[in-house]
Amino acid sequence: MVINSRAVALLLAVSVAAITGSFLSLAEDATGFIIFLACGLSFASCFILTFITLEFLIFREVKNLYKAIDKINHQDFKSAAELLGGFQPSANPLKQVNRQVLAYAKQKQSEIEELKRMEAFRREFIADVSHELKTPLFAAQGFLLTLLDGAIDDENVRYKFLKKAARSLEGLSMLVQDLLTLTQLESGQITMQFEDFDIVKLTEIVFEQLEENALRRSISLEIENPPEEKLIVHADYNRINQVMTNLVSNAIKYGREGGYVRVSFLADANGVQVSVSDNGPGIPKEHQRRIFERFYRVEKSRSRQEGGSGLGLAIVKHILQKHHTDISLHSEVGVGTTFTFYLPKAGTPSQR
Ligand SMILES: Nc1ncnc2c1ncn2[C@@H]1O[C@H](COP(=O)(O)OP(=O)(O)O)[C@@H](O)[C@H]1O
Ligand SMILES: [Mg+2]
Repeated sequence: MVINSRAVALLLAVSVAAITGSFLSLAEDATGFIIFLACGLSFASCFILTFITLEFLIFREVKNLYKAIDKINHQDFKSAAELLGGFQPSANPLKQVNRQVLAYAKQKQSEIEELKRMEAFRREFIADVSHELKTPLFAAQGFLLTLLDGAIDDENVRYKFLKKAARSLEGLSMLVQDLLTLTQLESGQITMQFEDFDIVKLTEIVFEQLEENALRRSISLEIENPPEEKLIVHADYNRINQVMTNLVSNAIKYGREGGYVRVSFLADANGVQVSVSDNGPGIPKEHQRRIFERFYRVEKSRSRQEGGSGLGLAIVKHILQKHHTDISLHSEVGVGTTFTFYLPKAGTPSQR
């Protein structure tokens, strides 16, 4: 027999009518018509009441619950939520159960998705790191093995090979250092040491440090309209030094030979906007969104040749995030690239 609300209501109504009828038949003055009428009325009212209660309060909700679970199994949360009538509060406890099931399933699903995303990220990261470590390591190994195989006796190549091995290992050490910095920034091990300093002075120091690299590519390092007064910002000196060093050295490395690297400042009441521009080949649109990802390089071979770890901009973004600010990029192919970020002035709260 199929159990549904109609069958249950019918059964209950028949029993109530039968009981009412048999009780009334015991009464002496109850006529056949009265008994029939009482049976009919109790049957009808009992049937309607039970049917409505079961159908609308229980069976329909249970049916919806099953359908919703089926939808959840197929990860169709939108239809499931529609079936359960959204998330508005309801007096019906079964409806509440339904909603809780849906909310719970949704929460679990998003947790699973997050775990999957992290797992994919971890896998990709390990693959990237191994790949990046492999390149300089194998190069150094190659030079040393060649030396051991006899090249060490050749005075002409001995020094050259040792120097090449040393340069590869230097690249490796830089990469490991950058990886460590990135991990420590992400895990919160590195905290920002806020202090007041002149951002123009810091830029001049960064220029001095990178002067030789710029000279090698005949690139001029300029501060646009050098401000006469100091531009004091409230930030972590060493970390902003790292940011500027990376942006300026990128502009030198990837800029146009014989071109320029120009830093400009725009101060307002709350802080200073810093822009680092070059007139190099620029970054094609399709790469711009991904440029801040770790290990992402536009021109894989050229970038590697230039000796970068591919982590510079990822570190820059992290450091600026720790300063509650962001970095923006404007680049046009054949025209040049500008990176811009904002630092709060001394005396203004670091969290804007
Ligand atoms: N000023 C720039 N002009 C053109 N391309 C750039 C510029 N700055 C960064 N890029 C591109 O962004 C990539 C990522 O930069 P970065 O994270 O600093 O890594 P790396 O300098 O180690 O290659 C570079 O490999 C390069 O392709
Ligand atoms: Mg770099």
